[in-house]
Amino acid sequence: MQCLGILGVGELTEKVVHGLRRSGFDGRIVLSPRNAQRAQALASGYDCEVMSDNQSVVDHADLIILGVRPESLSELVAQVRLRPGQCLVSLLAGIGLDQLSTAFEGARCVRVMLSYAAQFNQSTVVVCPADNLAQQWLGPLGKLVVLEDESSFELATVAACMNGWFYFLLHDLQQWLCDRGLPANQARDLVLGNLQDCLSSAREQPELTLKALGQAIATPGTFTAEGLAVLMHQPVSATWGAACEVVLDALLTRAQTPDDH
Ligand SMILES: NC(=O)c1ccc[n+]([C@@H]2O[C@H](COP(=O)([O-])OP(=O)(O)OC[C@H]3O[C@@H](n4cnc5c(N)ncnc54)[C@H](OP(=O)(O)O)[C@@H]3O)[C@@H](O)[C@H]2O)c1
Repeated sequence: MQCLGILGVGELTEKVVHGLRRSGFDGRIVLSPRNAQRAQALASGYDCEVMSDNQSVVDHADLIILGVRPESLSELVAQVRLRPGQCLVSLLAGIGLDQLSTAFEGARCVRVMLSYAAQFNQSTVVVCPADNLAQQWLGPLGKLVVLEDESSFELATVAACMNGWFYFLLHDLQQWLCDRGLPANQARDLVLGNLQDCLSSAREQPELTLKALGQAIATPGTFTAEGLAVLMHQPVSATWGAACEVVLDALLTRAQTPDDH
């Protein structure tokens, strides 16, 4: 029977387990023992096994998912020895393939970036570099994007942060509707519904740029155009761009200073 090992049972790997079981994965899932309460909840609710130590996870697993925080990496590295060629999927943001290959000598290291939507099998699943086993096991968590070079992967990590930022934008828009008197649930439905409309149109028409899709709505004389003029006058996109630059800079700096972890 296939066996998936998880080193670092945290917020993200918990969602991965939920998504894999939801997709019908019926192989073994073995967990590292730390964060015992969360591991135990996964064991009882999602048919996982909590191992006595990290090395037992490695020894049983065909593929390992690494889900510790970057600052815990060196501690974990000292606790395990992987088999030559064993596939290690790292979820760690900002830790490059070079660092992983040095830390886990002989292992086949792959970087993956995904979001909490993995629990609903609807995450963007970015894989770098291409790896059949990693893609086969993690593909059911959502939509695969396979990248060959790490500089693209760092940009994909910035895109993954956008996922978190969008919630704050959506919250502000919902709040505006609430402040004008709409009940929170209706305001939420309207904001999410209009976002969904946008996503559907964009996905159905890949030949059109996102800007062209917007311009087709904000034609001269429309209310959309009137509001857009205000947005363009005080472009929020500049602030978002600055946030992207800060994150990319932090990722690249982190990649160059492995000793910080
Ligand atoms: N959260 C996200 O949305 C997201 C998105 C993309 C990528 N990531 C990446 O995913 C990783 C995990 O993030 P997270 O938010 O899920 O973190 P988290 O909730 O803090 O989970 C990390 C887990 O690893 C455990 N751990 C630490 N050292 C360990 C060791 N030596 N052996 C076994 N387990 C150990 C921690 O246990 P203790 O609590 O006992 O320390 C904790 O349970 C990070 O590297 C992050 O860059 C996260």
